[in-house]
Amino acid sequence: MKLSVIGTGYLGATHAAAMASLGFDVVGVDVDPKKIELLKVGKVPFFEPDLEDLLIAEVNSGRLKFTTDFSEAKDYDVHFICVGTPQQQGSLAADMKYVDAALDAIAPHAKTGSLIVGKSTVPVGTAEQLSKRLRELGSKAELAWNPEFLREGFAVEDTLRPNRLVVGVTSDSAEEILKRAYKPLLDNNVPWIRADLPTAELVKVAANSFLATKISFINAMAEICEAAGGDVTVLAKAIGYDPRIGSRFLQAGIGFGGGCLPKDIRAFMARSEELGAKQSLEFLREIDSINLRARQRMIDLVRLDLGADLKGKRIAVLGAAFKPESDDVRDSPALDIAAQVAAAGADVYVFDPKANSNAKLRFPALNYSHSVEECLSGAEIVLHLTEWKEFRALDPIKVKSLVARPNIIDGRNALDKAAWESAGWHFRGLGRATR
Ligand code: UDX
Repeated sequence: MKLSVIGTGYLGATHAAAMASLGFDVVGVDVDPKKIELLKVGKVPFFEPDLEDLLIAEVNSGRLKFTTDFSEAKDYDVHFICVGTPQQQGSLAADMKYVDAALDAIAPHAKTGSLIVGKSTVPVGTAEQLSKRLRELGSKAELAWNPEFLREGFAVEDTLRPNRLVVGVTSDSAEEILKRAYKPLLDNNVPWIRADLPTAELVKVAANSFLATKISFINAMAEICEAAGGDVTVLAKAIGYDPRIGSRFLQAGIGFGGGCLPKDIRAFMARSEELGAKQSLEFLREIDSINLRARQRMIDLVRLDLGADLKGKRIAVLGAAFKPESDDVRDSPALDIAAQVAAAGADVYVFDPKANSNAKLRFPALNYSHSVEECLSGAEIVLHLTEWKEFRALDPIKVKSLVARPNIIDGRNALDKAAWESAGWHFRGLGRATR
C-alpha cells in the first residue's frame, strides 16, 4: 500500500514518518519548498521529541519521500490530509482555506478507488461538503475522516500507540482500506471505532472541548481557593482520587494554549451557531473566559508583589512555549503574559529551552536570554510559566544568589513550594493562598 500525506507540519510530518516506520511507502507533500527541502534531508523544521530520529531512519530506508509536486502521489492508495485549520482573523470560526486547497490539489491525481482521508480538525459537515466537491471535480476517489488526537511533545508516541482509532466512512470498502493502513496498530489491540462522517468529525472537537473544560474547571476552583484561602493543588489531588473524575488534566495554572484547544473550542462554538444549536455550547464561552482570566490573575499577582506600576521592573520569565517539550508558541499563555507585563513597562527577560527563536519572531521587542542564569540575573521577580524539566530541577538555594529579590510565582504549580520557601524565597502559586 502506498500512502501520501498532504501537509507536513506537526501532524503531517509525524504521520508520514510514523506510517513509513510501519512499513508503507509514504510521500509527504507540501506547498512550502523550504519545509520539504529540510524534511528530505531528515531535518524537522520544529522541535518534537523522537521525530528527527524516526524521520532520518525512514528517509534513509527509502520508504519516505517528500515533494512539492502533487502528481508524484498519483498512483497512491490513500491520501491523508493533514493541513492546519487556524482561527480566522476577526472570527471564532476555523479558516478552511488550506483544507479546501489540499483537496483541490490532490483530487486530479487521486486514482479511482483510492481514499482521501481527512485528519485535520474541521467543523462538522466539512467531510460531506468535500465529498460533494470531489464529485463535482469528476474524481472517483472516496472520502473518509480519521481525526488525529496526538499531543505535541508526544506526537510520535501518540501516533504509533494511539489510545483509539476513529474512522468516519460511508462504505465497507473505505473501512477495509483504513484497516489495512492501520493493521500494525490494530494487531496491538488499539480500539477501532467506525462512525459516520459527522460523528467522526465531532469526536475530535468534543474530546478537545472536554479537555479544555477540565482545565478551566480546575482554574475556576483556583479562583475560589484564592478568594477563600485554600490550596487548589491539594484540592485537585483530593478530587482526582475519585476514578470518575481522574487526576489528569487537573493542573491549575495559567491555562491552556497552543494550536488546538483554544481555536477548536471557538470554532466549535461558531459551528454550533450555524447549526442552530448555539445554546448547547454556550458553556464553552465561559471555559474560554476562565482560561484567559488565568493570565490576568497571574499579572495581578505580579502587581501584588511589585506594586501597580511595573515600569522599569526587571522580570524573569521562565518559559515561552505553550507547554514543555514543544517549541510551539501559538496562543501561548506564557508568552502572552510576558508581552503584557512588557507592555506595562517592565524590563522582561525570557528564557525557554526550545522556543526562544519562535517567541522572538512573534515578540521581537522582548529580551531573550541564552540561559536560565542570564534570565534570572538581577530579577525582582521570577515567573515560572512553562514547566520544563530544567526549571522544575532548579536548585532554589543556588539560584537565589542570581536575583535582586527572591520572589517567585509558579504559574504552573509544578515547583516544590516547601523547598523554595525554605530556601528563603517568597513563593506564590496560582490558586494557592500565601500567608
Ligand atoms: C491537545 C490534545 O490533548 C490532543 O489530543 C489534540 O490532538 C490536540 O490538542 P496539545 O495542544 O498538544 O494537544 O496539548 P495538551 O497536552 O492537550 O495541552 C494543552 C494546553 O493545556 C497546554 O497549554 C497545557 O499547558 C495546558 N494544560 C494541560 C493545563 O493548563 N493543565 C493541565 O492539567 C493540562
